[in-house]
Amino acid sequence: MELNILTLSYLVASVTFILGLKMLSNPATARKGNLVAAAGMTVAIAGTIFLYEENGQKLGNYGWIFGGILIGGIVGTLAAKKVKMTAMPEMVSMFNGMGGACAALISIVEFNHLLHATEGDLSAHVPTLVIILLGLIIGSVSFAGSMIAWGKLNGKIKDIVFNGQHLLNIALLLVILGLAVYLAGWTPATAKMIFFAVFSLAILYGVFFVMPIGGADMPVVISLLNSFTGVAAACGGFLYDNKVMLTGGILVGAAGTLLTILMCNAMNRSLTNVLIGSFGGGAKTGATAGGSQGTVKEISLSDTAVVMAYAGKVYIVPGYGLAVAQAQHACHELEKLLEAKGVEVKYAIHPVAGRMPGHMNVLLAEADVPYDKLVEMEHANEEFGSTDVVLILGANDVVNPAAKTDTSSPIYGMPILDVELAKNVIVNKRSMKPGYAGIENDLFFRPKTNMLFGDAKKVLQDLIAEIKNL
Ligand code: TAP
Repeated sequence: MELNILTLSYLVASVTFILGLKMLSNPATARKGNLVAAAGMTVAIAGTIFLYEENGQKLGNYGWIFGGILIGGIVGTLAAKKVKMTAMPEMVSMFNGMGGACAALISIVEFNHLLHATEGDLSAHVPTLVIILLGLIIGSVSFAGSMIAWGKLNGKIKDIVFNGQHLLNIALLLVILGLAVYLAGWTPATAKMIFFAVFSLAILYGVFFVMPIGGADMPVVISLLNSFTGVAAACGGFLYDNKVMLTGGILVGAAGTLLTILMCNAMNRSLTNVLIGSFGGGAKTGATAGGSQGTVKEISLSDTAVVMAYAGKVYIVPGYGLAVAQAQHACHELEKLLEAKGVEVKYAIHPVAGRMPGHMNVLLAEADVPYDKLVEMEHANEEFGSTDVVLILGANDVVNPAAKTDTSSPIYGMPILDVELAKNVIVNKRSMKPGYAGIENDLFFRPKTNMLFGDAKKVLQDLIAEIKNL
C-alpha cells in the first residue's frame, strides 16, 4: 500500500515538473510554474524520506537527512534572496554545480556498493557499471565546469587560453573514456584505483573544458552544463530505478539542451563557436566618441522630453545596461507618464538582450510592466516603421546594424532590432564603450540617432521630472 502511495507521489511530482516547465515558458505564468514544480519536488522528497522501503526497512538516518535539508534550505533561501538580478547566471551556475556533484557522489556510493557485492572482476556488472561511470563522468564535468563558470562570472577566474588547448581537452576525454572501459576487467581493488583516476581526470576535464571559453559566453555554457547535470541525475534515476529522478533528470537535460540551441540560434552562432571561439572575452577595447566612424550627436534632456511627450508612438528597447542601472522601475514610471499624455508605449524585446534567457522579461516584470506591452523582436521590427521615437536604454549589440551588413563582424547574421526604421532614435548609455561583443556600433553615428549619455536610472529620473514640467 505504502509503495503505491510512493509511486503515486512520484507520478504527481513528474506531472508537476512537466506542468511547471510549460508554465515557465510564459512570463504571466512563470512564477506559478516555479511554485508548482517546487511543490511537486517537495512531494517526491517527502515520499522518499517517509515511504521508501528496502528489504522492509525505511530510510532512517533522519538526523542526517533533516540536518542536510535544513542547512541546504537556509543557504539556498539566503542566497536566492540576496542575489542581484545581474548575478543570477552566477548563482544558477553554482547551484547547477551542486547538482553535478550530487550525481557524481551517487555514482561513488553506488560503485562502492557494487564492489562489496562483487567477487572476481566487474565484467558481470557492465550495464550497472556503464550507468555509474556515466553519472560519475558527466556529474564531475558539470560540477567542475560550473565552478569555473561561477568564478569567471564573478571575476575571480580569468580566461586562460593557450595553443593546443582544445587538442589537450580531446586527448583528456579519450583517456577518461579509455580508462572507464578498461576498468570493467579488473578485480575490486584495482578497479577502485582506476575509478578514482577517472573521477579526478573528469574533474580536470571540467576545468579545462570551461577555461578557454570567452567569459561573456558563460550563460550559454551554464545552460549546456545544466543539461549535463540533468543527464547525470537521470543516470541516478536508472541506478535506483527511481522514476521521478529519471523524469526530472531527462526534463532538465532536454530543457538545457534546447535552451543552449535557442541561445546559439538567437546569436546566430554555432555551439562549436561558443565552445572554442573565445568570443566576448573582453579582449577588445572600446571606441571613443568621435572615434573611427566620425562624431555622434547628443540630445539634451529637455529636448528628449519634448520629442517623447509629443510623440504618437514610442518603443523602448531595454538592454543589459538597464539591468546594471536597476532602472526598471523608473522606466515603468516613464511609460505610465507618457501614456497619461496619450502616447502609445511598448517595449521591444530581443531574445538575447541582457545576459541570461528572458532577462528583460524578468527585469520588467519586477517593475510590474504589463506583459502585453512586451513585444517580441519579429513583431517589433514590423512596427518600427510607424514609430515616432525609439528610446534605447542600455542596449548595444542587439541594435547594431553591423549584424546585417558587416560580414567580418563577430555578430554578423545575428537578428537585430531594426530601430532605424523609426523616425527618431535616442540612445541612452554612459559612454561610447562597446557592449558584450566588444565592437563599435555604427547606429550611434547615423543621422537619425541622438545620444543621451548618463546612467540609465539617473537619466530616466531626470527625464520624468522634465516631462512633468512640460
Ligand atoms: P550589450 O551589448 O552588452 O550592451 C550593454 C550596454 O549597456 C553597454 O554598451 C553599456 O555601455 C550600457 N550600460 C551599462 N551600464 C549602464 C548604465 N548603468 N546605464 C546606461 N547604460 C549602461 O547589451 P545588449 O544590447 O542587451 O546585448 C546583449 C549581449 O549579450 C548580446 O551580444 C548577446 O549575444 C549577449 N549574450 C546574451 C545572453 C542572453 S541569454 N541574454 C547570453 C550570452 C550573451 P556604457 O558602458 O557606455 O554605459
